[in-house]
Amino acid sequence: MIGRLNHVAIVVPDLDQAASIYAELLGADVSAPLDLPEHGVTTVFIELPNTKIELLHPLGDDSPIATFLERNPGGAMHHVCYEVGDIMAARDKLTAAGARVIGDGEPIIGAHGNPVLFLHPKDFCGTLIELEQV
Ligand code: CO
Repeated sequence: MIGRLNHVAIVVPDLDQAASIYAELLGADVSAPLDLPEHGVTTVFIELPNTKIELLHPLGDDSPIATFLERNPGGAMHHVCYEVGDIMAARDKLTAAGARVIGDGEPIIGAHGNPVLFLHPKDFCGTLIELEQV
């Protein structure tokens, strides 16, 4: 059911410093920071040959990643995103098997303009999973 690894997201305390680590030390192609107020994050996209890395930093007063950064002040991996062809079919299969979707269960439009859902880390080996319909 799941396809390509679309991206790995890492929450960081300092976006400029993190972008510089990826650009200068690791030699990756790094975008300028992009504010996504509807998602409560500022993001830097890093294009790798086979996937992407997204550096995330809280934006605004009630960012969904603010608590995560408080608990992981030095930064930490936040989620992995797998591509699916049909997000509603994927959701129905997973919820029928007892897996929990975060929120009200309806897909939202993600940072790339595609429908996304998040799956509860306790049901997936301790890892928050984002499904993106591509
Ligand atoms: Co993501």
